[in-house]
Amino acid sequence: MGRLDGKVALIVGGGADGPPNKGEALAIGNGRATAIMCAREGAAVMVADLRLPLAEETAAAIRAEGGRAKAVACDASKEEDCRGAVEAAVREFGKLHLLVNNVGIGIGGSLLKTTTEQFDRMVAVNLRSHFLTMRYAVAEIAKAGGGAIVNVSSMAALRSNRLIPYEATKAALLGLSRSAAASHARDNIRVNTILPGLINSTMVRREIGDREAAVAPRIPMRRQGTPWEIAKAIVFLLSDDASYITGTELIVDGGLSMG
Ligand SMILES: NC(=O)c1ccc[n+]([C@@H]2O[C@H](COP(=O)([O-])OP(=O)(O)OC[C@H]3O[C@@H](n4cnc5c(N)ncnc54)[C@H](O)[C@@H]3O)[C@@H](O)[C@H]2O)c1
Repeated sequence: MGRLDGKVALIVGGGADGPPNKGEALAIGNGRATAIMCAREGAAVMVADLRLPLAEETAAAIRAEGGRAKAVACDASKEEDCRGAVEAAVREFGKLHLLVNNVGIGIGGSLLKTTTEQFDRMVAVNLRSHFLTMRYAVAEIAKAGGGAIVNVSSMAALRSNRLIPYEATKAALLGLSRSAAASHARDNIRVNTILPGLINSTMVRREIGDREAAVAPRIPMRRQGTPWEIAKAIVFLLSDDASYITGTELIVDGGLSMG
């Protein structure tokens, strides 16, 4: 029996935009690993992504394992697409119980090196999108009898590396999630945030490349995390194993934040 049997999950940013690890056939990032793991735990999964082929690749991987999944195109910075992704999940699978907001990009830099346009784009993609998908999802989740939402933030919410729009939007997600959790606890909807540390994900392989040797010595556990380790933590927060956990943050960082 799976921990998400009978549930319907929407994973926004459920593709994987980057190269695979050496020896891996399929590129795995945090969003794709989460979608696959939700399906392995019994959920029917709607995979939403800016790039439909990436979402379709995730859905096909799930179906190849015997799971249920469909894909939908969604630019999470657009309100109509956020509404459309929620509607697609309900249309396809009849209900919605679980939402994961994995979308996050990194543009801009320090205060004086970030343009207003870059800052606005970051707010639209990393923060407003989560607000929008939650706003459309909560009514459906409440109708289904309750469920859970996980927003993917970052250790960058708590520590600075002088990337102002990334850090500001990831920190704002903590407040956004907490506030949504407070508003919807009585609807039996739990909302939590996950803070990954340094993860060997598609986002990192695409933008930085292989950073393992450079960062591992800084991490108490002496290695980057894997997207599967992020997915396991997300599935925990989505499942009834976390039935009394809401409005909080879970750090998954191999001890990096201990200092
Ligand atoms: N890798 C790390 O070290 C690390 C650390 C902390 C947090 N994170 C967070 O993890 C998340 C990304 O992880 P990933 O490995 O899945 O990366 P990824 O870059 O593969 O992103 C997943 C998907 O999001 C999609 N996407 C991008 N913009 C979108 C938009 N506007 N609308 C809809 N979909 C969009 C991409 O097409 C991609 O398929 C981000 O929120 C990131 O901030 C990563």
